[in-house]
Amino acid sequence: MKKIKKLRSQEWFGGSDKMGFVHRSWLRNQGYPNDHFQGRPVIGICNTWSDLTPCNGHLREFAEIVKKGVLEAGGFPLEFPVMSLGETIMRPTTMLFRNLASMDVEESIRANPLDGVVLLTGCDKTTPSTLMGACSVDLPTIIVPGGPMLNGRFRGGTIGSGSFNWVIKEKQKAGNFSEDDMLEAEICAARSAGHCNTMGTASSMASMVEALGLTLPGFSSIPAVDARKKVMAQLSGRRIVEMVNEDLKLSDILTRQAFENAIVVNAAVGGSTNLIIHLLAIAGRIGVELKLEDFDNLGSEIPLLVNLMPSGKYLMEDFYYAGGLPVVFRELGTLLHENIITANGKTLQENYKNATCYNREIIAGINQPLQEHAGIAVLKGNLCENGAVIKPSAATPSLMKHRGRAIVFESMEDYHARIDDPDLNIDENSVIVLKGVGPRGYPGMPEVGNVDLPEKLIKKGVRDIVRISDGRMSGTAYGTVVLHISPESAAGGNLALVKNGDMIELDVEKRSLNLDVPEEELERRRRNWLPPEPLADRGYVRIYLDHVQQADKGCDLDILIGGSGAVVKRDLH
Ligand code: FES
Repeated sequence: MKKIKKLRSQEWFGGSDKMGFVHRSWLRNQGYPNDHFQGRPVIGICNTWSDLTPCNGHLREFAEIVKKGVLEAGGFPLEFPVMSLGETIMRPTTMLFRNLASMDVEESIRANPLDGVVLLTGCDKTTPSTLMGACSVDLPTIIVPGGPMLNGRFRGGTIGSGSFNWVIKEKQKAGNFSEDDMLEAEICAARSAGHCNTMGTASSMASMVEALGLTLPGFSSIPAVDARKKVMAQLSGRRIVEMVNEDLKLSDILTRQAFENAIVVNAAVGGSTNLIIHLLAIAGRIGVELKLEDFDNLGSEIPLLVNLMPSGKYLMEDFYYAGGLPVVFRELGTLLHENIITANGKTLQENYKNATCYNREIIAGINQPLQEHAGIAVLKGNLCENGAVIKPSAATPSLMKHRGRAIVFESMEDYHARIDDPDLNIDENSVIVLKGVGPRGYPGMPEVGNVDLPEKLIKKGVRDIVRISDGRMSGTAYGTVVLHISPESAAGGNLALVKNGDMIELDVEKRSLNLDVPEEELERRRRNWLPPEPLADRGYVRIYLDHVQQADKGCDLDILIGGSGAVVKRDLH
């Protein structure tokens, strides 16, 4: 292992001149002893705690636990807040702000006297945003995933956060759920601290960072309120000090092989389609080449091993008691790159070789998977020239090859205004086409791709029809939903040209999505198409609109790709 020569923090704290005095003296108003500044590794604890991010509400306490570990190992912990993104609160969508939060993290790390970083994460975007920012600086970094909340319990049954929202909506449309029922269900669904308890985006992100090798082994699936989570947080505090001493940086761990492992693991756990966008963006920051097609090539043949909502039946708490992610790693075996190095300095194989499964109904063996092919399929065709995605494990098998008549909605507002119009000419064979929900068009690419079916179809007992859009889908949702169409409609992709009654052909096996309209007619429509008016003329949203990339590239801002390292070129004078 490499040995670090000089601590970066000593450039601030090691001076005997006026600026050395300034850097130390003001910090000492917190009561730090003199020896804290004399060559101890300084560990930044990057905290996404916020009252407005309920999934991360326990991370204030966790920061204190991590600090204990840092101190025990001889480090000097300094906690700092960064922009936190609360999925259930922020408008129009947290995805609009993921890149902004990553800039906050990047600049906060680089501008301060830090030798290593602990990222405290939880809710969906708080994991990719912090990791993207950290990658652009590339210090030794470990992640403490906040963990899922306990199982939801409602009237004798188990309910999953997020997934139950879609059930409520359908029950309400069918007239089976009163307002009192809803009030009671609210607190039953969210019984403890932690993020969504399904294999939604937050759990997929936590599994992703463990698969990338950025957490201590077995950490990601422990429930937020389990005492073992606190133990892991403390041990992570100890370990980051060692990582600084070993100079084990993000770029040493985040190799192309680590990204390939994350794709395979996401398929095996039935993880969120959102992982695609975030993993592409993280790869871009650390300088690893990753393409949309990699998710299909590496993941689509991977079997589904985990029986968790939304693809399956159980929740993260059950998953942890069954053995958690370590069992999945062990089952996948040589389908993973087992010799990659992880945050504890050991290989994946060393970390997970003794994992034991305690419940085969929740984690299947590799020879008896729940589904043979679980990964994400990447589609191409004249409706998605740069690609689109579908999650087959969440879709209806009979709709995977389908030809249907387009029912077009130009925006979410148009959808809400007309979807339940009794005169809407829609049936179970129709294809809902939703435009204007892409990275630029909304803006921020919200999780609306799995729009509800019209009330009249639900009352007929229809539970799924094909829906296509340039938006995303919540990791807790399900259905035959084609997402992330690129180029998006607001960027002039062919999606913008679809009209009511056009025939659309989806063939997941052939990986195709096409609009059955002659090219001459498309060209005529293209000439008459006008791009939408820009949705902001100033501020961050204007910067975002000018620089955001399309979904097939991960939606990072083009000016943020790559990194600038840890060196600050000018001093504080
Ligand atoms: Fe925060 Fe689901 S709303 S993780």
